[in-house]
Amino acid sequence: MIDLRSDTVTKPTKEMLEVMMTAQVGDDVFGEDPTVNQLEWMLAEMFGMEAAIFCPSGTMTNQIAIKVHTQPGQEVICERLSHIYQYEGGGIAFNSGCSVKLIDGNRGRITAEQVLEAINPDDIHKPTTALISLENTGNRGGGSCYNFNDIQEIKKVCTENNIPLHLDGARIFNAIVAKNESPKQYGEVFDSISVCLSKGLGAPVGSVLLGSKAFIKKARRIRKVFGGGMRQAGILAAAGIYALENNIKLISKDHANAKRIEQALIKKDFFGEMLPVETNIVIAEVKGRLDPIEFVQKMKEHKIYLMAISSTQMRMVLHLGISDEDVNDIIKIIDGL
Ligand SMILES: Cc1ncc(COP(=O)(O)O)c(C=O)c1O
Repeated sequence: MIDLRSDTVTKPTKEMLEVMMTAQVGDDVFGEDPTVNQLEWMLAEMFGMEAAIFCPSGTMTNQIAIKVHTQPGQEVICERLSHIYQYEGGGIAFNSGCSVKLIDGNRGRITAEQVLEAINPDDIHKPTTALISLENTGNRGGGSCYNFNDIQEIKKVCTENNIPLHLDGARIFNAIVAKNESPKQYGEVFDSISVCLSKGLGAPVGSVLLGSKAFIKKARRIRKVFGGGMRQAGILAAAGIYALENNIKLISKDHANAKRIEQALIKKDFFGEMLPVETNIVIAEVKGRLDPIEFVQKMKEHKIYLMAISSTQMRMVLHLGISDEDVNDIIKIIDGL
């Protein structure tokens, strides 16, 4: 089976399992798990941020960040396709009691002008704009990356209006590798960053939220309230440390393989608009001879699993579990359809 449904499907390798089995652990709710502390310190240091907190999921790190940055009745600004709005179960309303103002972006990316336009004036009729949230890479944007200048322009607007800036960095290392950037650039402009270990980096569980000491102190309280305080979580953190030390360098292979698949799809008559492949995600319109469901079904007959993400589009996601040989097989099957 070749599973292209998501980069969350990776399974820990033997080497990763070994470090998990031998991890030193303690009670992390008491702050006593040395491996969790090491992971938090490691990521904070990488991004040049003061502090970090290990959580079970990217949904939790995003939702904790939103909760800490906002008060009920305020408003969060994000792009229409953002994971925090589309795929976190209405968590912004449920957990934080906030409304959302959506911006129509370019494949998940928004501009400083759009942000400025969306910030509410100081008017008692309007919710107070409390947070701007960006996603990099943009999942529904087909793994799209921001140009760093555009992020800096957005930051300028945030600073001028005294509004914090959050990053959903579920796939931030894909962006960093694709754009040849450094984590510290991101630490300098964002007030909080959510980094997922369980996507392109291949760990089985876990995300880390980064921010100032004061922000992370509040985040620890919210994590407890959300039920995300884990005990001997060092077993999981060890996988995260392994992933950071060994798997960042493997990400570019996924990007190259996504490009190879894009080239194979372009030749077929049943593909329409294709989102330009920038990282590990391939999103394309399927039309004419096949629709997305039929295409997914045809690939499944060859034990290649992918997703129809709308009535017109299919998605394939490359990850650590997909080898170059797997990609040869995928291309051969596509060529024959
Ligand atoms: C952009 C983005 N943010 C956040 C998440 C949430 O991560 P988790 O599944 O760990 O809750 C995902 C999950 O795929 C994602 O794609």
